[in-house]
Amino acid sequence: MKNQSTVVTYNLEASQFPWEIAAGKTISAWGFNGQLPGPTIKAKKGDTVVVRVKNSLTEPTMVHWHGVRLPAVMDGTGDSQKPILPGEEYEYSFVVPDAGTFWYHSHANETVQMERGMYGALIVEDPSDPTFDNDRVFMVDDMKLTKNNEFLEHGWFLPKFIERHDGREGNVALLNGKEMPIVTLNAGQTERWRFINASSARYFVLHLGGHTFQLIGTDGGLIETPQVLTKVLITPGERIDIAVGAFEDGDTFSIESPPYDRTTFLKASKKTYGTVNVVAVKASTAYVPISLREIEALAPQDAEVTRKVKLSVAPNLKNGLDFRVNDRTHMNDAPVFVGDLQVWEVSNTSLMDHPFHLHGFFFQVLEENGKAPGYKAWKDTINLKPRTTVKIAWMPDNRPGRWMYHCHIIEHHEAGMMASFDVVDRSKPYMLSTAHHCHS
Ligand code: C2O
Ligand code: CU
Repeated sequence: MKNQSTVVTYNLEASQFPWEIAAGKTISAWGFNGQLPGPTIKAKKGDTVVVRVKNSLTEPTMVHWHGVRLPAVMDGTGDSQKPILPGEEYEYSFVVPDAGTFWYHSHANETVQMERGMYGALIVEDPSDPTFDNDRVFMVDDMKLTKNNEFLEHGWFLPKFIERHDGREGNVALLNGKEMPIVTLNAGQTERWRFINASSARYFVLHLGGHTFQLIGTDGGLIETPQVLTKVLITPGERIDIAVGAFEDGDTFSIESPPYDRTTFLKASKKTYGTVNVVAVKASTAYVPISLREIEALAPQDAEVTRKVKLSVAPNLKNGLDFRVNDRTHMNDAPVFVGDLQVWEVSNTSLMDHPFHLHGFFFQVLEENGKAPGYKAWKDTINLKPRTTVKIAWMPDNRPGRWMYHCHIIEHHEAGMMASFDVVDRSKPYMLSTAHHCHS
């Protein structure tokens, strides 16, 4: 038993730097510590993580710790802090209460800063995690570059309108900041692979050339029992942990994504992200138990709905489209109270998909279009297909403050599909936050 929390400290410096995505192909990235993705932050469940962020960019930034159940003031958004100005430093400090695959990313001017590479992984381990022969993180991204490897800017109306509608999808697929990397693993071994979709809008359907894998974890850590699959959708913001292997010496296959039609103007296409080569056999000590953990149900499937959240898209005269929550853009939603179980009906009345993300808390999906999901999981991001309704349950624990939820297609978030709300402790005096202008 651990009686003392360990403190792990990291220094991150945000800056612009040259980054080689492939031999002879160098971009001018924005990111952390001169690498793309930024350094992987590693901690054990229960540790205190201290991250000092220095901003050496020429514009303000903030860092959001996606999925971590931290105090509201550490959430790294415009609702919880003042932006870190160029030349300034800011210290984030929080306990990581859950084991799993998390990530950090810029939460300021995200359509530019995230697109250019301002993200990294945050891995929280638990001594009771299953044993694998290796543990790897794969951050999936795409970038829209010109022939000269510059970020394509959209000055004129139609491409701009398409990007606002579809979200920005790139023409260059990146796996851990590289184009078409080669991944080598040993035959006979079973590894844990953690996938994080860090792209602005690209839906990534994880496919290993038809090989089966076991899905073992989602946004909020391990699920109850492994699911044997050949593909799984990972929307922007989501994480999926899988057990892969064992393969045979000489096997080779791609890490790829078959097309996913999320009803965009631009046609969905298949993308290949990397190649896996299986080499000499090695002994294995990996063991994937049938029962990974137990997840207690937060609420029954028929629990009464406490709030309705409607995602929609409507035309506007200025730039063509508004992305809305309950018919408004960048809205202020009503507060929730600590300890009051939340059962939200989130619906998507638009004709395209949206990945709905709740900051700071995990939810369970009770039903999707009236049907219970196939397995229980802790989630912070869930995809809503067109004309879909999901019912989710979550518990506001004692972390009062200002929180938000939004579509994780970054262009939709920017175009208004977001809401801020307060989590309120009834025993404390409370003043409703209003007139928050910053939507980041
Ligand atoms: Cu990863 Cu506000 O989101
Ligand atoms: Cu969206």
